Amino acid sequence: MMRHFLSIKDYTKEELLEIIDLAMYIKKEFKNERTDHLEDKTLGMIFEKSSTRTRVSFEVGMYQLGGHALFLSSKDIQLGRGEPMKDTARVLSRMVDMVMIRTFSHEKLEEFAKYSSVPVINGLTDNFHPVQIMADFLTMKEKGLNENSSVAWIGDGNNMANSWLMFASIVGLDFRIASPVGYEIPKEWQDIAQENAKKSGAKITFTNDPNEACRDADVVTTDVWASMGQEEEQKIREKAFAEFTVTKEMMNLTNNGIFMHCLPVHREEEVTEEVFEEHADTVFDEAENRLHAQKGIMVWLDRQRSK
Ligand code: CP
Ligand code: NVA
Repeated sequence: MMRHFLSIKDYTKEELLEIIDLAMYIKKEFKNERTDHLEDKTLGMIFEKSSTRTRVSFEVGMYQLGGHALFLSSKDIQLGRGEPMKDTARVLSRMVDMVMIRTFSHEKLEEFAKYSSVPVINGLTDNFHPVQIMADFLTMKEKGLNENSSVAWIGDGNNMANSWLMFASIVGLDFRIASPVGYEIPKEWQDIAQENAKKSGAKITFTNDPNEACRDADVVTTDVWASMGQEEEQKIREKAFAEFTVTKEMMNLTNNGIFMHCLPVHREEEVTEEVFEEHADTVFDEAENRLHAQKGIMVWLDRQRSK
Protein backbone atom coordinates (compact mmCIF):
# COMPACT_ATOMS: atom_id res chain seq x y z
CA MET A 1 0.00 0.00 0.00
CA MET A 2 1.39 3.38 -0.97
CA ARG A 3 2.17 5.78 1.91
CA HIS A 4 3.26 9.41 1.94
CA PHE A 5 5.41 11.04 4.63
CA LEU A 6 3.61 14.35 5.13
CA SER A 7 3.30 14.63 8.88
CA ILE A 8 4.36 12.70 11.99
CA LYS A 9 0.70 12.55 13.05
CA ASP A 10 -0.06 10.16 10.16
CA TYR A 11 2.21 7.51 11.73
CA THR A 12 1.96 5.13 14.66
CA LYS A 13 4.61 4.78 17.34
CA GLU A 14 5.57 1.36 15.94
CA GLU A 15 6.01 2.75 12.41
CA LEU A 16 8.07 5.74 13.57
CA LEU A 17 10.41 3.55 15.61
CA GLU A 18 10.63 1.00 12.79
CA ILE A 19 11.78 3.75 10.38
CA ILE A 20 14.37 4.99 12.92
CA ASP A 21 15.69 1.43 13.36
CA LEU A 22 15.86 0.99 9.58
CA ALA A 23 17.76 4.29 9.28
CA MET A 24 20.22 3.15 11.96
CA TYR A 25 20.68 -0.17 10.18
CA ILE A 26 21.29 1.48 6.80
CA LYS A 27 23.71 3.95 8.40
CA LYS A 28 25.76 1.09 9.87
CA GLU A 29 25.51 -1.06 6.77
CA PHE A 30 26.65 1.81 4.51
CA LYS A 31 29.94 2.10 6.40
CA ASN A 32 30.86 -1.38 5.17
CA GLU A 33 29.33 -1.77 1.74
CA ARG A 34 27.34 -0.07 -1.00
CA THR A 35 23.61 -0.42 -0.39
CA ASP A 36 21.56 -0.24 -3.56
CA HIS A 37 18.16 -0.39 -1.85
CA LEU A 38 16.71 2.09 -4.38
CA GLU A 39 18.64 1.06 -7.48
CA ASP A 40 17.50 2.98 -10.59
CA LYS A 41 14.83 4.85 -8.62
CA THR A 42 14.38 8.59 -9.06
CA LEU A 43 13.40 11.30 -6.58
CA GLY A 44 12.01 14.68 -7.71
CA MET A 45 12.83 17.43 -5.18
CA ILE A 46 10.66 20.55 -5.42
CA PHE A 47 11.90 23.57 -3.48
CA GLU A 48 9.82 26.71 -3.00
CA LYS A 49 12.07 27.82 -0.11
CA SER A 50 15.85 27.86 0.42
CA SER A 51 17.70 24.83 1.77
CA THR A 52 21.18 23.50 2.44
CA ARG A 53 20.67 20.35 4.53
CA THR A 54 17.43 19.09 3.00
CA ARG A 55 18.63 19.47 -0.55
CA VAL A 56 22.06 17.90 -0.02
CA SER A 57 20.88 15.07 2.26
CA PHE A 58 18.09 13.93 -0.05
CA GLU A 59 20.26 14.15 -3.17
CA VAL A 60 23.26 12.40 -1.63
CA GLY A 61 21.01 9.87 0.13
CA MET A 62 19.28 8.89 -3.08
CA TYR A 63 22.63 8.51 -4.84
CA GLN A 64 24.01 6.35 -2.03
CA LEU A 65 20.93 4.12 -2.30
CA GLY A 66 21.62 3.53 -6.00
CA GLY A 67 19.11 6.05 -7.34
CA HIS A 68 19.11 9.56 -8.70
CA ALA A 69 17.59 12.85 -7.48
CA LEU A 70 16.49 15.89 -9.48
CA PHE A 71 16.61 19.38 -7.94
CA LEU A 72 13.52 21.28 -9.10
CA SER A 73 13.51 24.89 -7.93
CA SER A 74 10.08 26.45 -8.25
CA LYS A 75 11.87 29.44 -9.79
CA ASP A 76 12.79 27.27 -12.76
CA ILE A 77 9.84 24.93 -13.21
CA GLN A 78 6.37 25.88 -14.46
CA LEU A 79 4.99 25.58 -10.91
CA GLY A 80 6.62 28.95 -10.24
CA ARG A 81 4.70 30.43 -13.19
CA GLY A 82 1.36 29.21 -11.90
CA GLU A 83 1.03 25.61 -13.14
CA PRO A 84 -1.20 24.00 -10.50
CA MET A 85 0.16 21.57 -7.90
CA LYS A 86 -2.34 18.95 -9.04
CA ASP A 87 -1.01 19.05 -12.61
CA THR A 88 2.62 19.07 -11.50
CA ALA A 89 1.83 16.06 -9.30
CA ARG A 90 0.29 14.08 -12.14
CA VAL A 91 3.17 14.86 -14.51
CA LEU A 92 5.94 14.02 -12.06
CA SER A 93 4.13 10.84 -10.95
CA ARG A 94 4.50 9.55 -14.53
CA MET A 95 8.25 10.09 -14.50
CA VAL A 96 9.76 9.74 -11.02
CA ASP A 97 9.39 7.15 -8.24
CA MET A 98 9.13 9.53 -5.27
CA VAL A 99 8.75 13.26 -4.68
CA MET A 100 10.02 15.50 -1.89
CA ILE A 101 8.51 18.97 -1.52
CA ARG A 102 9.52 22.01 0.52
CA THR A 103 6.77 24.60 0.31
CA PHE A 104 4.80 27.19 2.26
CA SER A 105 1.27 26.00 3.07
CA HIS A 106 0.76 22.44 4.25
CA GLU A 107 -2.47 22.32 2.21
CA LYS A 108 -0.43 22.75 -0.98
CA LEU A 109 1.65 19.73 -0.04
CA GLU A 110 -1.52 17.74 0.73
CA GLU A 111 -3.00 18.71 -2.61
CA PHE A 112 0.12 17.48 -4.37
CA ALA A 113 -0.04 14.21 -2.45
CA LYS A 114 -3.72 13.75 -3.29
CA TYR A 115 -2.94 13.81 -7.00
CA SER A 116 0.37 11.95 -6.82
CA SER A 117 0.55 8.27 -7.64
CA VAL A 118 4.03 8.04 -6.07
CA PRO A 119 5.03 8.60 -2.41
CA VAL A 120 5.41 12.24 -1.38
CA ILE A 121 7.73 13.38 1.42
CA ASN A 122 7.37 16.65 3.32
CA GLY A 123 10.71 18.50 3.17
CA LEU A 124 9.22 21.33 5.33
CA THR A 125 6.02 23.33 5.23
CA ASP A 126 4.92 26.29 7.35
CA ASN A 127 3.28 23.77 9.70
CA PHE A 128 5.56 20.74 9.88
CA HIS A 129 9.15 19.53 9.34
CA PRO A 130 8.79 15.79 10.02
CA VAL A 131 12.01 14.54 8.40
CA GLN A 132 14.02 16.75 10.76
CA ILE A 133 12.37 15.18 13.81
CA MET A 134 13.27 11.71 12.59
CA ALA A 135 16.92 12.80 12.36
CA ASP A 136 16.66 14.40 15.79
CA PHE A 137 15.32 11.28 17.47
CA LEU A 138 17.92 9.15 15.68
CA THR A 139 20.55 11.48 17.19
CA MET A 140 18.98 11.12 20.64
CA LYS A 141 19.10 7.33 20.35
CA GLU A 142 22.76 7.43 19.39
CA LYS A 143 23.41 9.49 22.53
CA GLY A 144 21.79 6.80 24.70
CA LEU A 145 18.40 8.51 25.03
CA ASN A 146 15.04 6.97 24.12
CA GLU A 147 11.24 7.39 24.18
CA ASN A 148 11.33 7.72 27.99
CA SER A 149 13.58 10.78 27.83
CA SER A 150 12.56 14.39 28.35
CA VAL A 151 12.86 17.12 25.74
CA ALA A 152 12.50 20.87 26.32
CA TRP A 153 11.55 23.03 23.36
CA ILE A 154 12.38 26.71 23.93
CA GLY A 155 10.91 29.28 21.57
CA ASP A 156 8.50 29.60 18.71
CA GLY A 157 5.48 27.29 18.31
CA ASN A 158 6.55 26.78 14.71
CA ASN A 159 6.84 23.92 12.19
CA MET A 160 9.63 22.28 14.18
CA ALA A 161 7.80 22.65 17.48
CA ASN A 162 4.60 21.19 16.00
CA SER A 163 6.50 18.21 14.65
CA TRP A 164 8.29 17.63 17.97
CA LEU A 165 4.96 17.81 19.77
CA MET A 166 3.37 15.25 17.46
CA PHE A 167 6.36 12.93 17.68
CA ALA A 168 6.61 13.24 21.47
CA SER A 169 2.91 12.65 22.03
CA ILE A 170 2.88 9.56 19.80
CA VAL A 171 6.06 7.85 21.05
CA GLY A 172 5.61 8.80 24.72
CA LEU A 173 8.26 11.40 25.53
CA ASP A 174 8.19 13.86 28.42
CA PHE A 175 7.95 16.99 26.26
CA ARG A 176 7.93 20.51 27.63
CA ILE A 177 7.40 23.48 25.38
CA ALA A 178 8.09 27.03 26.53
CA SER A 179 6.97 29.79 24.14
CA PRO A 180 6.34 33.50 24.60
CA VAL A 181 2.70 34.51 25.02
CA GLY A 182 1.14 34.74 21.56
CA TYR A 183 3.67 32.37 19.95
CA GLU A 184 2.37 29.09 21.36
CA ILE A 185 1.52 26.01 19.31
CA PRO A 186 -2.03 26.29 17.90
CA LYS A 187 -4.69 25.00 20.31
CA GLU A 188 -5.91 22.46 17.76
CA TRP A 189 -2.54 20.65 17.77
CA GLN A 190 -2.18 20.97 21.53
CA ASP A 191 -5.48 19.10 21.84
CA ILE A 192 -4.46 16.40 19.34
CA ALA A 193 -1.22 15.92 21.30
CA GLN A 194 -3.03 15.59 24.65
CA GLU A 195 -5.32 12.96 23.09
CA ASN A 196 -2.28 11.05 21.75
CA ALA A 197 -0.63 11.30 25.16
CA LYS A 198 -3.52 9.48 26.84
CA LYS A 199 -2.68 6.47 24.67
CA SER A 200 1.11 6.66 24.65
CA GLY A 201 1.72 7.78 28.23
CA ALA A 202 3.55 10.88 27.02
CA LYS A 203 3.79 13.81 29.41
CA ILE A 204 3.16 17.08 27.59
CA THR A 205 3.68 20.45 29.32
CA PHE A 206 2.90 23.85 27.79
CA THR A 207 4.45 26.82 29.60
CA ASN A 208 5.69 30.37 29.05
CA ASP A 209 8.68 29.78 31.36
CA PRO A 210 11.85 28.43 29.71
CA ASN A 211 13.42 27.55 33.07
CA GLU A 212 10.46 25.33 33.95
CA ALA A 213 10.84 23.51 30.63
CA CYS A 214 14.59 22.99 31.05
CA ARG A 215 14.49 21.62 34.61
CA ASP A 216 15.92 18.05 34.59
CA ALA A 217 15.49 17.79 30.80
CA ASP A 218 17.68 15.35 28.83
CA VAL A 219 17.52 17.48 25.70
CA VAL A 220 17.09 21.21 25.11
CA THR A 221 16.23 22.25 21.59
CA THR A 222 15.19 25.43 19.85
CA ASP A 223 14.94 27.09 16.43
CA VAL A 224 15.08 30.52 14.83
CA TRP A 225 12.65 33.17 16.07
CA ALA A 226 11.46 34.09 12.56
CA SER A 227 11.04 31.19 10.14
CA MET A 228 11.26 31.36 6.35
CA GLY A 229 8.43 33.57 5.14
CA GLN A 230 8.36 35.57 8.43
CA GLU A 231 11.42 37.73 7.77
CA GLU A 232 9.41 40.94 8.08
CA GLU A 233 8.48 40.01 11.68
CA GLN A 234 12.12 39.68 12.76
CA LYS A 235 12.27 42.92 14.78
CA ILE A 236 8.94 42.37 16.59
CA ARG A 237 9.91 38.79 17.33
CA GLU A 238 13.31 39.81 18.75
CA LYS A 239 11.41 41.75 21.42
CA ALA A 240 8.87 39.00 22.11
CA PHE A 241 11.55 36.28 22.38
CA ALA A 242 14.11 38.28 24.38
CA GLU A 243 13.80 35.94 27.42
CA PHE A 244 13.94 32.81 25.27
CA THR A 245 17.64 32.60 24.43
CA VAL A 246 19.03 29.23 25.52
CA THR A 247 21.81 30.15 27.96
CA LYS A 248 24.38 28.30 30.04
CA GLU A 249 22.17 29.01 33.08
CA MET A 250 19.27 27.18 31.43
CA MET A 251 21.52 24.26 30.43
CA ASN A 252 22.70 24.06 34.07
CA LEU A 253 19.11 23.31 35.12
CA THR A 254 19.00 20.19 32.95
CA ASN A 255 19.84 16.58 33.66
CA ASN A 256 23.30 17.05 32.09
CA GLY A 257 21.25 17.61 28.93
CA ILE A 258 22.39 17.77 25.33
CA PHE A 259 21.54 20.75 23.12
CA MET A 260 20.12 20.22 19.64
CA HIS A 261 19.24 22.60 16.78
CA CYS A 262 17.91 21.83 13.32
CA LEU A 263 20.06 24.63 11.80
CA PRO A 264 20.60 27.18 10.45
CA VAL A 265 21.26 28.86 13.80
CA HIS A 266 21.09 32.56 14.70
CA ARG A 267 23.73 32.89 17.41
CA GLU A 268 22.90 35.18 20.32
CA GLU A 269 19.22 35.03 19.39
CA GLU A 270 17.72 31.61 20.16
CA VAL A 271 20.98 30.31 21.70
CA THR A 272 24.19 31.83 22.95
CA GLU A 273 27.42 31.24 21.05
CA GLU A 274 28.77 29.61 24.24
CA VAL A 275 26.03 26.95 24.47
CA PHE A 276 26.01 26.33 20.73
CA GLU A 277 29.76 25.78 20.46
CA GLU A 278 29.86 23.63 23.58
CA HIS A 279 27.30 21.31 21.97
CA ALA A 280 28.45 21.72 18.35
CA ASP A 281 29.46 18.04 17.99
CA THR A 282 25.89 16.96 18.81
CA VAL A 283 24.33 19.57 16.52
CA PHE A 284 26.46 18.53 13.56
CA ASP A 285 25.82 14.82 14.26
CA GLU A 286 22.15 15.82 14.08
CA ALA A 287 22.74 17.57 10.75
CA GLU A 288 24.51 14.47 9.35
CA ASN A 289 21.65 12.30 10.57
CA ARG A 290 19.32 14.06 8.14
CA LEU A 291 21.06 11.95 5.50
CA HIS A 292 20.62 8.67 7.38
CA ALA A 293 17.08 9.28 8.63
CA GLN A 294 15.85 10.19 5.15
CA LYS A 295 17.49 7.12 3.63
CA GLY A 296 15.45 5.16 6.16
CA ILE A 297 12.26 7.01 5.23
CA MET A 298 12.76 6.55 1.47
CA VAL A 299 13.55 2.84 1.74
CA TRP A 300 10.60 2.31 4.11
CA LEU A 301 8.19 4.09 1.75
CA ASP A 302 9.49 2.12 -1.22
CA ARG A 303 9.00 -1.16 0.67
CA GLN A 304 5.39 -0.24 1.52
CA ARG A 305 4.59 -0.04 -2.18
CA SER A 306 5.58 -3.63 -2.81
CA LYS A 307 3.65 -4.97 0.21
N1 CP B 1 17.30 21.98 8.96
C1 CP B 1 16.99 22.17 7.68
O1 CP B 1 15.95 21.74 7.18
O2 CP B 1 17.94 22.84 6.97
P1 CP B 1 17.82 23.42 5.51
O3 CP B 1 16.83 24.57 5.56
O4 CP B 1 19.21 23.90 5.17
O5 CP B 1 17.35 22.36 4.57
N1 NVA C 1 11.51 26.94 11.41
C1 NVA C 1 12.53 27.06 10.40
C2 NVA C 1 13.18 25.74 10.15
C3 NVA C 1 14.28 25.78 9.13
C4 NVA C 1 14.89 24.44 8.89
C5 NVA C 1 11.90 27.61 9.12
O1 NVA C 1 10.81 27.16 8.75
O2 NVA C 1 12.49 28.48 8.51
